[in-house]
Amino acid sequence: PELNTIAKQHRKLYFGTATDNPELNDTAYRAILDDNRMFGQITPANSMKWFATEPSPGEFTFHDGDVIANLAKKNRQLLRGHNCVWHNQLPDWVSTGTFTEKEILAVVERHCETLVRHYRGQVYAWDVINEVFNDDGTFRQDVFFNSSGSKFIPTAFHAARRADPHAKLYANDFNIEGPNAKSAAYQNLIKTLKKEGVPIDGIGFQSHFIVGELPPNIKENMEAFTKLGVEVAVTELDVRMTLPETPELLAQQRKDYETVISVCQAVKGCIGVTVWDFTDKFSWVPGTFAGQGAACPWDENLKEKPGFFGIIDGF
Ligand code: XIL
Repeated sequence: PELNTIAKQHRKLYFGTATDNPELNDTAYRAILDDNRMFGQITPANSMKWFATEPSPGEFTFHDGDVIANLAKKNRQLLRGHNCVWHNQLPDWVSTGTFTEKEILAVVERHCETLVRHYRGQVYAWDVINEVFNDDGTFRQDVFFNSSGSKFIPTAFHAARRADPHAKLYANDFNIEGPNAKSAAYQNLIKTLKKEGVPIDGIGFQSHFIVGELPPNIKENMEAFTKLGVEVAVTELDVRMTLPETPELLAQQRKDYETVISVCQAVKGCIGVTVWDFTDKFSWVPGTFAGQGAACPWDENLKEKPGFFGIIDGF
């Protein structure tokens, strides 16, 4: 069974995966990645981020991003652009710089405009802003907020729209999948942006979940967003566990994958699902969350796990 084929049969736009440049030499991995019946969409996990695309002020390097964009084209897969503005994986000149409001807005504008223009016509959707709120719904105190308040947000969206008028423009974050202070903050932001004529088209639920700990009412929360006139995508799905994996944990993980997919399936405005890489071999989880892993639907040997079948059952 092939996940993108099944997703499209169920009126979703795509089923996709993140991928990363170093993995592309793995032939067994590529056999699955390159099959657009399995994955109709890919996202570069790192190579379009700021550190990779504008390592020094005004000097843009698109080599690794282009490799992923060209792969999507060759495979006839949609591409999600990730991302324009994020507090992490910034070059030092941004993260440790001191900027006046005018300066940071010019920096954000040049970065978004140049990045999005470079991939014009090739990207289905851009994560224009990533992780701008804290869990309590206050703005994250990063270099962008500290220099401009929230003004960098409209600047980023306007620049992205000018640069590629056909790309869908998203805000993307974790811990907004269930109704809570952070998801409410995004709903308020979307209302404000729309009222002010700032182009925003979508909200990305990253969906980095823990086995057995999905938040309740994801469906109601998705619907609350779609009522504001934006589409929803599950953009970075994985379901991690404390290692070692056991049959019980894998069975619960299967249920969790099924639940997420069935919720997206039930909400018309949920347009697609992306896993944050499909195999435990290349998952970011063990490197970030000590003692945790086994978060993906394929295991380290590229064999489908129970979670893979949970995805199928969810559609
Ligand atoms: C992760 C990548 O997968 C890692 O390779 C990298 O070291 C750190 O970033 N939320 C996001 C993604 O929006 O960009 C992150 O990707 C995972 C969390």
